[in-house]
Amino acid sequence: MAEFERVIGAEWSFTSDADLELHRDAYSPLRGKPEELLAAAALAPDSTENALSVKYQGVKSGVIREWNDLTPELVRFWACNGVSVMAPFRKTEISDTELSVLARYLAQGTSSHR
Ligand code: HEM
Repeated sequence: MAEFERVIGAEWSFTSDADLELHRDAYSPLRGKPEELLAAAALAPDSTENALSVKYQGVKSGVIREWNDLTPELVRFWACNGVSVMAPFRKTEISDTELSVLARYLAQGTSSHR
């Protein structure tokens, strides 16, 4: 928890009973029963960099431009389909040409270009 707080800031890390109450499933058939799944903490990173730092926990940088394992295909896939909390993009929001250029740019650090 201390590590999460260091990365995203203590103000974005929630562990009090009052905070965690907001994350309980109000409609769960298990509510109030011993089997009910309860969150131990809620983390609210306020930027993509912070979200990715939490997700990859030091294994990879939170800054996508610093990654060296991206291919253009993977970037295009994530942009068109979304990933986790990132929304997918429509062709009216980013054209095929724009996305190709962006995907090649982000995959620059990767040796096997396609
Ligand atoms: C076309 C533009 C974009 C591209 C190419 C792109 C690409 C990516 C990639 C490659 C990842 C890493 C996926 C992973 O390893 O999990 C990512 C994650 C993420 N992106 Fe984007 N992104 C774009 C736009 C945006 C925008 C506009 C937002 C915010 C409004 C956003 C928010 C996020 C967040 C929050 C994550 C972390 C998701 C997680 O928690 O797993 N992205 N994006």
